[in-house]
Amino acid sequence: MLYTPVKFRNVELKNRWVMSPMCMYSSKDGLANDFHFVHYGSRSQGGTGLIMVEATGVELRGRITNQCMGIWNDEQAEKLQKIVEFIHTNSESKAGIQLAHSGRKGSTWNNIQISVEEGWETVAPSPVPYHPNERIPHELTEEEIRDLIQNFKDAAGRAVKAGFDIIEIHGAHGYLIHQFLSPLSNIRTDEYGGSFENRIRFLLEIVDAVNEELNENTALFVRISGTEYAENGWSLEDSIELAKELKTHDVDLVDVSSGGNIHGAKIPVFEGYQVPFSSRVRNEAGVKTGAVGLITKMEQAEEILQKGDADLIFVAREILRNPYIAVQGSFEMKEECFFPHQYLRAKISS
Ligand code: FNR
Repeated sequence: MLYTPVKFRNVELKNRWVMSPMCMYSSKDGLANDFHFVHYGSRSQGGTGLIMVEATGVELRGRITNQCMGIWNDEQAEKLQKIVEFIHTNSESKAGIQLAHSGRKGSTWNNIQISVEEGWETVAPSPVPYHPNERIPHELTEEEIRDLIQNFKDAAGRAVKAGFDIIEIHGAHGYLIHQFLSPLSNIRTDEYGGSFENRIRFLLEIVDAVNEELNENTALFVRISGTEYAENGWSLEDSIELAKELKTHDVDLVDVSSGGNIHGAKIPVFEGYQVPFSSRVRNEAGVKTGAVGLITKMEQAEEILQKGDADLIFVAREILRNPYIAVQGSFEMKEECFFPHQYLRAKISS
């Protein structure tokens, strides 16, 4: 199944390999540069079905570090457009972008919070820092929440104009949207906090606003943390209920990761450790899902698809090691996969 196509709206991915979004901390003023061009371009030459550009800030305060990518202005979108055009012209890969806001986990370098002067004042649903030693984030007002939803919408509009085929909203890993989802980081008493319905409201309003910018030629994914591994925190059952809602709000795929919101949470990490979360969300909410996390081998990826645990395979660290994982896999499995015509002789081993 790894080399069978799958369609989201009118967007057809040639195979099930996805380059998982990965911050490269290599932008100045949020701009993509030559590094990003080669980095994403080479993975498209590697036959990857979908290239997902890293977490990209929808506003300046939405970055994690000063060197994160952004899409809050047109200049940033124009740089990204060059990468998309290269991917579309020189490969059969599709291009996606992850729209993100760091919330209370922003203004950092090497995972350590930097000063307001060097970075910025962070924002969050509630004045609860990620780590007790960190500054207390600014509690967003309802008006500021509305502005942020607009930021996501504007960013999506720019991404569509730049030619992206897939937009992914980053609702995982303890960043702003996840901070709203979890009762441990969201202790608001207005309509954005308290009940499950209130905590998921911010994400659903972003989804609806972003969808207004999309059409049948651009699909919408949402990445979530399936669980945050904390008592009374965001749970897998919550994720399943959320996924049902996302489906009714025209989300095409839920990309199921985990963790990131609770400092010091114990995460049992092993081969394919997050696949069971993807499987439950997929089968209990009836949505398409992506599996991610220590998936490094063809047979493992194939089995995940065969067992119905996921529809797409997101690969992060392994695709940094091997940009040609999709082409190489197709070669080993003797399956058809897009092969750059310049590399056709590599198909002949003797
Ligand atoms: C990541 N990850 C990540 N996730 C995300 O949703 N947005 C991002 O921008 C990043 N950035 C990032 C940078 C780097 C260098 C790494 C290694 C990882 C997480 C990543 O997408 C993936 O979920 C995890 O790495 C687990 O998958 P692997 O690495 O086991 O295949």
